[in-house]
Amino acid sequence: MWLIYIYNRNYCCNIIGDNVTLIMSVQSLNNFHFKSFDNLDEDKDADFFINSMDALESIPSVRSIKDRAIDAMNLQIGDIVLEAGCGHGRDAQEIGKIVGNIGRVEAIDVSLKTINEAKVRYPNSNNVNFSVMSANDIKFANNYFSACHLDRLLVGHNNYDNMFAEILRTIKPKGIASVTDVDSLSIVMYPFNESTKKILKQIQRSFVNPFIGRMLPELFIKQNLKNIHTLPELITIEDFTILSKIFPFSNIINDMIHNDELTVTEGNSWIDSMYKATNDGRFLYCITLFTVIGQK
Ligand SMILES: C[S@@+](CC[C@H](N)C(=O)[O-])C[C@H]1O[C@@H](n2cnc3c(N)ncnc32)[C@H](O)[C@@H]1O
Repeated sequence: MWLIYIYNRNYCCNIIGDNVTLIMSVQSLNNFHFKSFDNLDEDKDADFFINSMDALESIPSVRSIKDRAIDAMNLQIGDIVLEAGCGHGRDAQEIGKIVGNIGRVEAIDVSLKTINEAKVRYPNSNNVNFSVMSANDIKFANNYFSACHLDRLLVGHNNYDNMFAEILRTIKPKGIASVTDVDSLSIVMYPFNESTKKILKQIQRSFVNPFIGRMLPELFIKQNLKNIHTLPELITIEDFTILSKIFPFSNIINDMIHNDELTVTEGNSWIDSMYKATNDGRFLYCITLFTVIGQK
């Protein structure tokens, strides 16, 4: 059950428990943006973003996408692999199992909070090192790694070209790059009505690089990578409650009402319609990702 209280235009939306609710109180513009992923430690929405990584990883299709991206690197025992933007460290851990104890994973993330969390989750990983380091300035020599793995790092950066070049600098000739990223123009959401259209537009605006997924093959070509192949991937979610752990609809709708892009009534009835659709088994959300593999 969720409750809605409205008081003129002074209100705030919250996520209470698992549900999105609109409650009465005064709240300023939240200015929600996925750019926050480039500086999680300082961001007011840091906890939401950090938890959203777990929410995503709990979806079986997401874990399969990650496993395919890792398999595609065709790693061998003894390989030394870079993961940039490793978050809580699940992928690094999986890669560590493949390269074995004579191999190693250097898993870097610019966020101290996520690296600390990865260290807590995987305290006994002998062959996985978690370090706070920016992918813009990687403290490893040229031609050092056998391969690199990135999952949804470039989506958050305007300088994705330079960042990718810096990552590739550290990969050996013939080393493999595996990059997975999302394409927010591909989002399908049902029920689909005028409010859904507006909210989807707002979500797309909140990505720094909304179309990075479809741009990846071109990015690989620009960096002179060879043997490029692309795996189209799809995440499907049939429960609005789960999607609300990935997109903070409360804050998104809050911002839109402040910007006069949505009325309070429209916001409330949209949330209502999403929960009803979930209960009736009609709710549907999909987003396309692309995993692109190439060789240096
Ligand atoms: C969308 S999350 C994805 C995390 C992880 N790859 C996963 O699949 O769950 C993006 C991650 O990239 C990290 N990140 C953002 N900017 C970075 C940078 N310049 N260098 C290294 N990591 C960065 C963030 O802190 C965050 O953990």
